[in-house]
Amino acid sequence: MPAIVLIGAQWGDEGKGKVTDLLGERVGYVVRYQGGNNAGHTVITPDGRKFALHLLPSGVLTPGCVPIIGNGVVVDPKVLLAELDGLADRGVDTSRLLISADAHLIMPHHRALDRVVERYLGSARIGTTGRGIGPAYGDKVARMGIRMQDLLDPGILAKKLELALREKNQVLVKVYNRKAIDAEAVVGEYLTYAERLRPYIADTRLTLARALDRGENVLLEGAQATLLDVDHGTYPFVTSSNPTAGGACVGSGIPPTKISSVIGIIKAYTTRVGAGPFPTELFDDHGAHLSRVGGEFGTTTGRARRCGWFDAVVGRYAVRVNGITDLVVTKLDVLSGLDRLPICIGYEIDGERVDEMPMDQTAFHHAVPIYEECDGWDEDITKCRQFTELPAAAQHYLRRIEDLCGTRVSVVGVGPGREENVVLHDLG
Ligand code: GDP
Ligand code: IMO
Ligand code: MG
Repeated sequence: MPAIVLIGAQWGDEGKGKVTDLLGERVGYVVRYQGGNNAGHTVITPDGRKFALHLLPSGVLTPGCVPIIGNGVVVDPKVLLAELDGLADRGVDTSRLLISADAHLIMPHHRALDRVVERYLGSARIGTTGRGIGPAYGDKVARMGIRMQDLLDPGILAKKLELALREKNQVLVKVYNRKAIDAEAVVGEYLTYAERLRPYIADTRLTLARALDRGENVLLEGAQATLLDVDHGTYPFVTSSNPTAGGACVGSGIPPTKISSVIGIIKAYTTRVGAGPFPTELFDDHGAHLSRVGGEFGTTTGRARRCGWFDAVVGRYAVRVNGITDLVVTKLDVLSGLDRLPICIGYEIDGERVDEMPMDQTAFHHAVPIYEECDGWDEDITKCRQFTELPAAAQHYLRRIEDLCGTRVSVVGVGPGREENVVLHDLG
């Protein structure tokens, strides 16, 4: 496995952190290739300790593994340093971290604009994490972003920030009635971050190319997920980057020809944080069960996640867009105790049956799920480690996911712990 990509197949929080951590022992490098500290990845290490990671790749918790923040990530240096300090306090060695010199920085004006724009959107708001992600990517594409490497040159940093604030302060003050941001103060603050981050800044593209040439294994860890992709997701209710498999190449500098497999992480049901269409969303006791038993509260913002039944149209779409070779179905244990388990196999949209993700957004907003009912099971499955140990109804449920999504299920999560899995096919 030269380079493997791990992506979320739904709307995020599928359990990517746990799976990256699981694979971490078999790879030399784990790379985050997009997103920023909007992500929240929970990892429970073998000694039972729980970690919530936002910017650092989950591989940081695996001894010997080199964690890399790729060029496609947007970095809030204050948050990154706090995360590094938090891990150091808990005895985690983070000295191997490398950060791409080309990764863009989240600046105070990005955070300010993210929050104020959301407020002004009112009921049309996206429900962002308020971390400045969208505005930072906006500036990147508009070619007025500030990059990690700019931290190494105080003159350039000051010049670029002054230029950016010339416009942004006008917007903050005149459009949104906020205070202007003082460029000098921000430069001073960011130069203190620069001192601490300097040792980590590297040409990670080259590091990764050399690692692959030596035959090392690289894991590309996505944040967010397919349906939150700015191109392939439920636009505009998306994040501002490309979590899909193609984004892994762009955000790391690893060429497509080096990717050997794409692992899709998919929850046994569906959740979504923030606004936007969600056809199988539940507002009844079943939804309450998923929320309560699944502990569906955001790792980053603490917001309650919206919960719903498994949507095979979404799963099929994720397989198609990412070229998923293996599915990891997480949180199957959360379904124990439900009497029936509907799976959405298609939609009815304005009187017509549709089996694939519709072309236009309005149609998706109108999509009414068509369900196939599966039997539930009562048994506690958290101790199961073999497929055959799972109740017959759970086996059937997984086989239906496999058939409907059109790719094999290789691992099934039956609990949050690193060992709590049923492995059907080796991910290596
Ligand atoms: P990520 O953003 O995709 O990394 O996922 P999050 O960490 O935000 O959310 C997934 C949550 O599910 C975390 O609290 C995990 O500890 C937990 N989790 C992962 N896999 C399983 C599983 O198989 N069963 C259960 N019960 N919890 C799981
Ligand atoms: P992980 O990596 C779930 C959602 C936000 C919002 C939209 C845009 O833990 O799966 P943004 O702040 O990115 O501009 O917000 O995207 N969102 C996530 N939802 N999991 C995440 O990350 C998310 N990151 C962003 O709730 O709807
Ligand atoms: Mg998460």
